[in-house]
Amino acid sequence: MVTRRELLTGVAAFSGSAVASFAFAGRKAIAREPVIAQPVAHDTKKLFLDLAERPAALPCFDGKTLPLWTFQEGTLFPVVRMKLGERLDTRFKNDLPRPGEYASIHWHGLRIPNDQDGVPFMTQKPVDPGGVGTYSFVPPDTGSFFFHTHCNSTEHMGRGLVGALIIEGDEIEPPDAEYVLLMKDWRISPDGTFLPFSTDAGAAKAGTPGTVRSVNGERPAVFKVPSSANVRIRFYNVDPTRISEIGFEDAEAAIIAIDGNGLDPLPLLSWRMGPAMRLDILLRTAPAGGSVRLMDFFAKEPVVLAEFHSEGPPKRNGKFEPTPLKVMPFPKVDVNGAQQIPFIFSATATGEALAELGNSGIEIGSLCLAKRTFWAINKQAWPGMDHKDLGPPLAVLKSGQSYIFDLQNTTPHSHPIHIHGHTFEVMSSSMRHVPPHRADTVLLRPNERVQAGIVGGQPGTWMFHCHIIDHQEAGMMGYIEVT
Ligand code: C2O
Ligand code: CU
Repeated sequence: MVTRRELLTGVAAFSGSAVASFAFAGRKAIAREPVIAQPVAHDTKKLFLDLAERPAALPCFDGKTLPLWTFQEGTLFPVVRMKLGERLDTRFKNDLPRPGEYASIHWHGLRIPNDQDGVPFMTQKPVDPGGVGTYSFVPPDTGSFFFHTHCNSTEHMGRGLVGALIIEGDEIEPPDAEYVLLMKDWRISPDGTFLPFSTDAGAAKAGTPGTVRSVNGERPAVFKVPSSANVRIRFYNVDPTRISEIGFEDAEAAIIAIDGNGLDPLPLLSWRMGPAMRLDILLRTAPAGGSVRLMDFFAKEPVVLAEFHSEGPPKRNGKFEPTPLKVMPFPKVDVNGAQQIPFIFSATATGEALAELGNSGIEIGSLCLAKRTFWAINKQAWPGMDHKDLGPPLAVLKSGQSYIFDLQNTTPHSHPIHIHGHTFEVMSSSMRHVPPHRADTVLLRPNERVQAGIVGGQPGTWMFHCHIIDHQEAGMMGYIEVT
């Protein structure tokens, strides 16, 4: 017998009869054409961000005030919306309260020019406290993206410096409503102070976990929704470490985009999401008076992340048949002509020793390492937390050429692997059936090997790293050069 929990794991979800019984009618194949040039803007959206400490109380932490760092006054995670074809003109001020706490803003998942990518020392000069920086670009794709700083990131993200960037224009059939959910844990002690954002024991294993869970700063997040409606949920995992298995309890729902990339709707039983991954979901809400719960099924005890309470007259009465989103024109990976490039994600000798000590319960504080390099990509460990000392690139790609990244996880931990300025075509895995899809962050399960196609994008140096921030800052980071 298949238990509900087995059904809810990603493996069962796409490997058996569960799929057949959920097949949707009315799928349309959508043609893809290559992108020739960067888009030209027809309008401009202005954005002002002011990075500062703003003590605030989070509902998930019963009213105690925390010294949060945020991008804007009056909101925990700003949600910036714009239309495809608009230019985004950003001005940001660094008002962070610590001398030397420089910043820059990375636009996660966007295929924009390299000098707009927001990596300090590598693609731009960092902005010191008191300073101002600017970005200006035209996002080439619709979708659910986000932004964050790219320095001292366990602390910056740990204190709240995250925002959503939504590029509209992908809907063929508008949903009845839309909700944006950002899942993030907080590492706080009961008295309301932040705990160290990263520990050696955490960084050498699955990452340093938070202590209080939240969605939009609440737990659970509660929404009033129209009854029997098709609503769009943009779900973000913006936690520095947490791996989740997202799904609903007894509701019809479909995945309509992964990392902002539309795909033929897939029935959502559950979907495993590492840090930085996004999922666009179409949900059929409950009849009036009913409710639906969004869960994290990863742990033994499922956790309620959000509740959707239905009210008002029903919006729909037919079968649930999700309409696909428009698919953006991407350069197609030429699988036959593609060069294979192996990337081996491993623990360093120090990382292994530390993990052993951690398992044995021996105090590891004494192992104070000048350079915390517990992880490596192709045996290269990123030399420091910042981006000042660049080693050689992990690979050099030619713009417009096809490659297959052979991503090999040789560790017993999961790693969400992210590349800047590009989108992967996730093709296959050594241990499970993967529905073909596009993504900018690929979750490698323990000892898994994934083939991901990629076409060399815009020239420049593009970061390539694990998005478990502890791992990123402890060696599992490098960069790809595109010429
Ligand atoms: Cu959200 Cu370098 O990444
Ligand atoms: Cu990792």
